[in-house]
Amino acid sequence: MNVISLAQPGGLDQLHLQERDAPGEPGPGEVRVRLHASSLNFHDYGVVSGAMPTADGRIPMSDGAGVVEAIGKDVEEFRVGDSVVSTFFPTWLTGPAEVGDFTTVPGDGVEGYAREQVIRPATWFTHAPRGYSHAQAATLTTAGLTAWRALVVEGGLKAGDSVLVLGTGGVSIFALQFAKAMGATVIATSSSDEKLARLAALGADHTINYRTTPAWGAEVKSLTDGRGVDHIVEVGGPATLVQSIDAIRIGGHISLIGVLTGRGGDIPTAKLMARQARLQGIIVGSRAHQQAMIRGIEALGIEPVIDHHFALENIADAFRHQESQQHFGKICLDI
Ligand SMILES: NC(=O)c1ccc[n+]([C@@H]2O[C@H](COP(=O)([O-])OP(=O)(O)OC[C@H]3O[C@@H](n4cnc5c(N)ncnc54)[C@H](OP(=O)(O)O)[C@@H]3O)[C@@H](O)[C@H]2O)c1
Repeated sequence: MNVISLAQPGGLDQLHLQERDAPGEPGPGEVRVRLHASSLNFHDYGVVSGAMPTADGRIPMSDGAGVVEAIGKDVEEFRVGDSVVSTFFPTWLTGPAEVGDFTTVPGDGVEGYAREQVIRPATWFTHAPRGYSHAQAATLTTAGLTAWRALVVEGGLKAGDSVLVLGTGGVSIFALQFAKAMGATVIATSSSDEKLARLAALGADHTINYRTTPAWGAEVKSLTDGRGVDHIVEVGGPATLVQSIDAIRIGGHISLIGVLTGRGGDIPTAKLMARQARLQGIIVGSRAHQQAMIRGIEALGIEPVIDHHFALENIADAFRHQESQQHFGKICLDI
């Protein structure tokens, strides 16, 4: 079977298509999945670019979707032919967060899904949403679930709430879609006026160009009659958090998710305290969160926004496209 293998020290020219032995038959509790799609995340880029070093020869990609080809003894949840999608934290099945690193994450600490087939414990996958293509399903493992957990699980999103999303990457577009489908008002930012128009077409109630309006926190406040928003999906990090603290309402919830602008910086702690806001770090979610999200997606009829498809063997081109930040929503690999 074909796999993509990442030679160290990493870098897009270190991604190599290789032939490896096909897996055999699944053991008790395991399934064999024919993978048909993956999707790119900023975290995968960190791995393949070498910024987050992994083992030499690592098969990258955290997201994987495909069809169950064979089931081992005692697997009751899946049947041969089921469409499935992988989970980000294979060992975090349910309950409160219990992992804080990437040692168990496919495509980073363990082998990922840039491959044609895999045998794994059945609990490393869930059913995909009914009617989804494999590429659509593959967008859920990381980006979809992070947006869902931020807004619904931790934020307690409800109709009538207001939500701020930053930029037009995978997580932010999912957050916009979940928020709109659940009856929230959405304010969305981008560096590009053309992308702002696409955000409005997707349902964003207000849009702000964060390049031409660097003090967008004050703009968000004025758009909410001085109150501020209830939820912020903070994918920027140090360079955006100061504005987000300006934009949050008193007692609001900021999900600290991203490192797009760096990994550390100054926080105006007194202002955060005065706003009595909850600032919560979040890394993706559990298998139970993923199952709840998929029920939600089926009920709400949400379809992921896919910017571009690339063939598995063109994975480096796919990451170059992500690097250019020209994309809007998700970039997928067809396997
Ligand atoms: N903690 C977690 O569980 C988790 C899970 C998934 C992702 N993340 C993190 O969340 C971030 C986004 O991930 P992703 O996969 O959605 O990335 P992505 O698809 O690569 O998003 C890239 C987009 O981010 C926007 N952006 C860049 N700099 C920005 C800034 N200063 N302010 C606002 N927007 C900015 C740009 O949008 P425009 O072109 O519209 O300006 C850009 O196109 C990354 O830092 C990633 O590591 C964290």
